[in-house]
Amino acid sequence: MCGIIGYIGERKACNVLVDGLKRLEYRGYDSVGIVTEEDGKLYIKKGAGKIDELKEKLGLLQMPGKRGIGHTRWATHGIPNDINAHPHTDCTGKIAVVHNGIIENYIELKDKLLRKGHKFKSDTDTEIIAHLIEDALKDFNNFEDALRYALLRLKGSFALGIIYTHDREHLYFVRNESPLVLGIGHGEMFAASDIPAFLPYTNKAVFLDDGEYAVVTKDSFVVKDLKTGEVKEKKVHEINWTLEMAEKQGYEHFMLKEIHEQPKAVKEAIYGNLETIDEIAREIANYEKIYIVAMGTSYHAALVGKYIFQRLVKKVPVVEDASEFRYEFEDLIDKDTLVIAITQSGETADTLAAIKLAKKKNAKVLSIVNVVGSMATRLSDLVLYTHAGPEIGVAATKTYTTQLTVISMLAIALAKYLNTADREYLQKIEAELYDMPKYIEAALGYENKIKNLAERLKEKRDFFYIGRGINLATALEGALKLKEISYIHAEGLSAGELKHGPLALIEEGVPIVAIAPSGKTLEKMISNIQEAKARGALIISLGDSEELKKVSDILIKIPKVDEVLSPIVYIVPLQLLAYHLAVLRGNDPDKPRNLAKSVTVE
Ligand code: F6R
Repeated sequence: MCGIIGYIGERKACNVLVDGLKRLEYRGYDSVGIVTEEDGKLYIKKGAGKIDELKEKLGLLQMPGKRGIGHTRWATHGIPNDINAHPHTDCTGKIAVVHNGIIENYIELKDKLLRKGHKFKSDTDTEIIAHLIEDALKDFNNFEDALRYALLRLKGSFALGIIYTHDREHLYFVRNESPLVLGIGHGEMFAASDIPAFLPYTNKAVFLDDGEYAVVTKDSFVVKDLKTGEVKEKKVHEINWTLEMAEKQGYEHFMLKEIHEQPKAVKEAIYGNLETIDEIAREIANYEKIYIVAMGTSYHAALVGKYIFQRLVKKVPVVEDASEFRYEFEDLIDKDTLVIAITQSGETADTLAAIKLAKKKNAKVLSIVNVVGSMATRLSDLVLYTHAGPEIGVAATKTYTTQLTVISMLAIALAKYLNTADREYLQKIEAELYDMPKYIEAALGYENKIKNLAERLKEKRDFFYIGRGINLATALEGALKLKEISYIHAEGLSAGELKHGPLALIEEGVPIVAIAPSGKTLEKMISNIQEAKARGALIISLGDSEELKKVSDILIKIPKVDEVLSPIVYIVPLQLLAYHLAVLRGNDPDKPRNLAKSVTVE
């Protein structure tokens, strides 16, 4: 959803900005732009396209100055072209702005500015911000006062970087409902939408909250409240992510690296939560009214969570797409409600809106989050981290399996505390959970087989993923992975639903991917597979049983794990299948078209 970056210090700003934008490219990649300043003059280069193409073409690394801001765009207002690329400037060309988010009242503000004689160059909502500040400067002597006055007129979500020629010592950054983090160096300061952008230079970070702005010099920063101007105390966080974690380390794509990191990530998720999980379980043990809210892949983790809670804790959480939650459930939430929010980034606008509503209604909020210090963590009463390390590939992989790990740990801890499941059984699945890295490693061992399978399937137009019970979520997630990076039409379905309609779509050779571990539903799965096979479908099964072999054209044999933990292992071959199909079809799996990693607008 756009990435922004800023730098002020002693280095050549354009080098830091280009490097940082490359690391933020997962947030949007339809256009790029940079502004630097030297001797009171702004230098701007921008255009439509990806940074690697534009670096040479525009000469992004040949820009003077030691302070500047940059932007990588995921278009919302105005098509991706050179003019709509950020930064945007005012009429005088002295103020430049980069923006992540949406200004909801921009039409009204633009009309007023047009009537005052301002000239606009682009179709973006962002450009009005530069003009608003320019306009306010007529009434205020001081840039910061003019900035505050202008920004208080904006409605919507925005993270902003602002540079002004006449104010040579400073850069300004603002946060309202879009992420922004300051990076604190020695004699240099950074700001970005996400930490990996400045990780090569510093691991000290300050997270801005909504309605705050930062005034930054090369040696200092001060964070203030946008409404009152009051100085805010901010904590400097030490981030334990390393640079290597945010680099490809020899893998062709981040996604492939992140798929292969899963054994380690799951191990970190387990050990990172061992000490706190029982305490958190105790704090939430008495809630009967439970909602789990999330979007996309995290929503699929929520679905798995629902099944585990039902099986182990004997409670039935309502799982709701966070974008629907506040419209449907407002009247039902109260102080006796527990809302569990699952979000990798901790910045997804819909999930944050659901959390805010829950807080407003005095519910208890527990978030399961990957990014330390992100907005969700600051809004919630309780937080469990997934400890997956930075995930750069747009398609979520290791953050999904770690979300599943954490929610499984939570359900096991609750079941132990509330005595809702057989002790021996709980011990058995707990031991299996600790062994999960080994099972994932075994599933990764099928990569060559899956690559060959992808070669065979690369021309197929439609895929159907079927599962039952807890693995309906695996079917949905497998299909989502395929759609988003290979652009092949895929549907995830409950296997039982097949004959209630979708079976009409099955013809000779249509691939059906059946997720069929041993457990409560295997027998029925086999019947559903046979129904599809009789209509000519090509059956690709994932399972651990011999019976499955007889009904499948291709069987990917998965090590036997308890059904409640099976989603953690079974998704791995499906991630690999989606990845290899995407690569074979010539797509960049790290940057799927039209998508961005954190969706910071509703
Ligand atoms: C899909 C994917 C998205 C995210 C969704 C929620 O691969 O990554 O569907 O899962 O945008 O993001 P978070 O978890 O950051 O709230």
